[in-house]
Formats: sequence, C-alpha cells, structure tokens
Amino acid sequence: MEINGYISDRLIEEVRSSCDIVEIISDRLSLKKSGKNLKGLCPFHPEKTPSFIVSHEKQIFHCFGCGAGGNVYQFLMKSENISFVEAVLHLAERQGIPIPKNKKKIGDVEGYNERKRLYEINKLAADYFHKKLLESSEGGKGRDYLKKRGIDSNTIDRFLLGYSSPLWDHLLRYFERSGISPELLEKAGLVIAKEGREGYYDRFRDRIIFPIFNTQGMVVGFGGRIIADSNQRTPKYLNSPETPIYKKGGVLYGLNLAKEVVSKEGFVLIVEGYIDLIALYQHGIENVVSLSGTALTREQVLLLRRYTEKVITVFDADSAGRSATERGYDLLLERGMRVKVIPLPSGSDPDSFIREWGGDLFLKRIEKASSFVEYMIERIVKEGNLSSLEGQMDGVNRILPILSKIPNAVERDSYISIIGEKMGISRNALLMELRKAILHQKRRVNFSPIQKEGNKGVAERSLIQLMLIDHTNIERVKRYISIENFEDHDLCQIASVLFSLFDKDDEISLQRVIALLPEDQQKEIVARLVMDGMEYENIGKAVDDCIRAIRRRDLRCEIDTIKQQRKEAIEMGRFEEYRMLQERYIQLREEMSKSSI
Ligand code: CTP
Ligand code: MN
Repeated sequence: MEINGYISDRLIEEVRSSCDIVEIISDRLSLKKSGKNLKGLCPFHPEKTPSFIVSHEKQIFHCFGCGAGGNVYQFLMKSENISFVEAVLHLAERQGIPIPKNKKKIGDVEGYNERKRLYEINKLAADYFHKKLLESSEGGKGRDYLKKRGIDSNTIDRFLLGYSSPLWDHLLRYFERSGISPELLEKAGLVIAKEGREGYYDRFRDRIIFPIFNTQGMVVGFGGRIIADSNQRTPKYLNSPETPIYKKGGVLYGLNLAKEVVSKEGFVLIVEGYIDLIALYQHGIENVVSLSGTALTREQVLLLRRYTEKVITVFDADSAGRSATERGYDLLLERGMRVKVIPLPSGSDPDSFIREWGGDLFLKRIEKASSFVEYMIERIVKEGNLSSLEGQMDGVNRILPILSKIPNAVERDSYISIIGEKMGISRNALLMELRKAILHQKRRVNFSPIQKEGNKGVAERSLIQLMLIDHTNIERVKRYISIENFEDHDLCQIASVLFSLFDKDDEISLQRVIALLPEDQQKEIVARLVMDGMEYENIGKAVDDCIRAIRRRDLRCEIDTIKQQRKEAIEMGRFEEYRMLQERYIQLREEMSKSSI
C-alpha cells in the first residue's frame, strides 16, 4: 500500500488510539455483549446469525463468516468504501485531531485533496462525454457506430459510454467555463500541453469514450476508440496516462459492475477488450472483467481474489497459448486460483464470437471450459514431437514451470498422471523433475508457495498465532525457524514483520503489526488468529511442538528429494554424486532422529 507514506506512522497511530473501535462500529450497527467481546450481524456479508466480533481490549474486529477483519481503519475503509488515507483523515476529523500543515510530515494531505479533485473532474468529464454522445448532433456518428456494433442504449447508460468531439479544445473550453484550470486537467490526463508553445489541447478527439471505474465506482481514467477504422495513423485505442488516481495494472475494467454477480456465480470471466466485455454483458453474461490490452498484474489478481477463486479466461487461441508468465497465468496459479480457459477460434474475439454464435453457445463453452494446465498439456502434446527424446524433454520443460506454481500437492499430482500418460513419460521421472523445479523456485523467491502432502499449514498458523498472542515467544521461534520455513505466503509475510520488529528491538504491538503488513488479507488473518480464542494449556510446549513439526516437515521434504536424486545417480552410474548425496542423506536422518529441537 503506497498510501502509508502519506501521513506519518506516528500520526496514524495517534488518531487510531484516540478513539474506541467499539464506538465507531456501534455508530453503524448494533453490537451486543458476548463474553469479553461484542457481537453483531456482519455488515460485509449477508447473514442471519451474528458472526461479527469486536474486541474492545484488542481494538480489532473479525468476522468468522466472511473473514473480514483488522483495526478501525480496515473497518472504515470497508464500510465506507474509502482509501486508507481517507479513513485516517475521516477519523482525525471526527476526533478533532488537527492534521498539521507541516509539509514535510504529511506532504500529502494536499495529495489527498488533489486526488479528490481529480475524481470529481473525471466524473464531470465522463458525464460530459456521455451527454455529447446522447444529445449532440456530432454525437450522431458515435450513436450510429455503437448501434452498428450492437450496443443498445441501456448498455450505453450502464457503462456511461460517451463521445468526444473532433475539435481540439472542446473539453478544455467546457472546463474553462467551470473555472477548472488546464493544469489540473493535464494531471487528470484529459488534456495535453502543446509542445514548445503555450496552451493545451484535448487528448480524446472524435472517439467513443469508455470511462474506467474503480471497484468503488469512481471514474479513474478513460479509454477512447476511433470510429472509422480506415485511418492507419492514429491508434485504434487511446488510454489515459498514469495519473495520481489511475495505475494501469491496478484496475480491472468492469469489476465495479461485475463484483456482485461474480460472488453470486462463483467465477469470473476475463476478456481482453472493452467491447468484448460489453458484448457479453449484452448477452446477459455479467460476471466478466476486461484487461484492456495489458497483461494481468499481481494487484489485479488480488482484486479478483476478493470475490472469487475461479477464473475463466476467454482469449483467442493464439494468445491463450502464449507463455504463462507473459499472460499472467503464473500469478493466478501461484495464488491458488482455479484457472480455466475458453480458447476461441484463431482470429475471433469474445465479441465477434458471441455475435456470430449467440449467447447459448458461449454458455456451453463456459460449461465445457478445460483447466488451463490441461489445455497447455494438450497443446504441448499437439505441437511437440514426443516421439523423440528431445521433443519429450522440451515438452517437460514447458509444462513443469507451470505445474510448480500450483500450491496444492494433490492437484499437482493429478496433472503428473495426465502428463505421464499423454507424453509417455514415467511418473517417477516427472516427479523427480518437478521436485527440482520446485526447489529451484524455492531458492529464487525465498519462500515456497507449495503446501506439502498431509500438512495444511496447521503448525505454521499456530506458530504465528502463538507469537501474536504472546510476543515473548518470538525469540524462541526465531532461534529455530527462519521466514523461508513458512510456505504460506501470507504467514511468511506476517512472520517477517514479527521477526524484523524483534530484530530492530522495536516495540511489538498488535496494532503495529497490523499497520506494517502490506496486504489487507494479511491484516485479516492476524485479526482472525488473535480472535480465534484458542486456549493453549502450556504455551511453551505448544511453541516447541509447532517448531518441531515444521522442522520435521522440511527435513522430510529434503530427504525425499535426496532419495530420488540418489536413485537417479545410481541408475546413471554417477558414483561420485551418489557418494555426496549419501553423506547428506545420513546427516539428515540423524537430524531427524534427534527429537529435541
Ligand atoms: N488496446 C489498447 N490500445 C490499442 C489497441 C488495443 O489499449 N492500440 C486495448 C483495448 O483495451 C482493447 C484491447 O486492447 O479493448 C483489445 O484490443 P483489440 O483486440 O485490438 O481490440 P478489440 O477489443 O477487439 O476492439 P474492437 O473490437 O473495437 O476492434
Ligand atoms: Mn473486437
């Protein structure tokens, strides 16, 4: 979260501790006493029996139903749909805490105000373009074009589609009349400064305008499409540049409208273009977002994961097959998302497909969509020459990096069987190579997303919980476990915050940990673990048990790998290598048999 830098950490904490989370939440919903805590109906998901808990003592909340949680800031952000800075400012105002004008400290209350202005300007511009499309005579061109593409007036309203005049200063003059400076318009990306001369001109001219909304429904930027395809010299689509409120990889077109349907349907479709998305909408398929021409980013994956774990991509056949990394499939798999693909005939896109074949056939394709990994296996089998050893190795090298991204061992295993069968390679050989690929990755990223068989990360979770409940446990844990031992990405992040506070000899408090964690879902996990109310009879013993479990698990994993490699070394007659592996093997067995930690 880049916003943290805007206001000093001290001030953020001062504002937070000046109020009582119970009071803030009680303003918005009714809470009843329940043991040490308070309980109510969760405002973030529909429910009939209360699972929303607020702790006065700890100053955090957690919902056992939907997993929402954190401190008062996370509550305000979620319930008011505002950013972190806004939550801080909002609370400061309520508590009557002046935000000092000292520029250095919070240079960015100004930034905050500017951002607010930019949202307003964008909304004004979007309305202006929309009106132009619907009401002006020059907008007739735009209306005709959209009609030709099968986009009706309901859809035009829903997406607030617009049209920009061919003149060079239409928008500029419109805003001039409302007293908004061209400098600010330039910041919003709506006008461009003339080169070497005074003055500005409109960025979007004679184009269909697609306002881009964030999940809260605020206009953050624009895309514009030319109307006549004939002119080769202007790009088909123009987009807003990056601005203080628009980061290209940070939004997904259509998510503001799709999010509820996505939660309801249980999956989301990803398409490439504005019109693709709109065409699906017109056919009643509303759980869809569009990438608008860029590769999927980590931020976008996190956005999607708030609403679903199931993703179906609809790309044309050529681009679906492009490398997994290039398209962002890696990011989806790493986060444990279930990914399916609908490959379309080469040269067609969702818009042309659904217009030609209709919505029913498209729905059938959704039903029959195959998993991304299986699709890749099919492709590799089709494209490669699997009768030669070289071809086989090539195929394995293409598929293993993808497999190694899948966090679930059972799922990986089922693919291994499929690959073995299709490529005519032994299961054992594949498993061995997969281990190598995973270990390679582990070294590279410093933690592994892999969860090993039979262990659902219980020990890792408990260990984090024990450290959160009682900070004095951190020292002991740190002596035996390093952050690389945490395989779960989020738990690893939490451990790293705890360890680094400990290292720096900093004050360790629940609120500090929450403040320092980079992702909201990690704050949620912390709130959950603290609220879980797990009673440990003997905390010291519990800590040792968890440490031992994690160490044994890691040892076992390394032993398995060594055993495989040892076998391979013998089969290949590489005796020197065998000897070294054997030494390491004995060493590991010894460590394993020592039961003390
Ligand atoms: N795009 C872009 N800039 C371009 C071309 C494309 O930003 N010069 C983005 C747009 O968001 C576009 C998407 O990439 O929607 C997909 O591009 P493309 O497949 O070329 O266009 P279509 O979406 O099929 O648009 P249309 O059907 O209107 O031709
Ligand atoms: Mn198209």
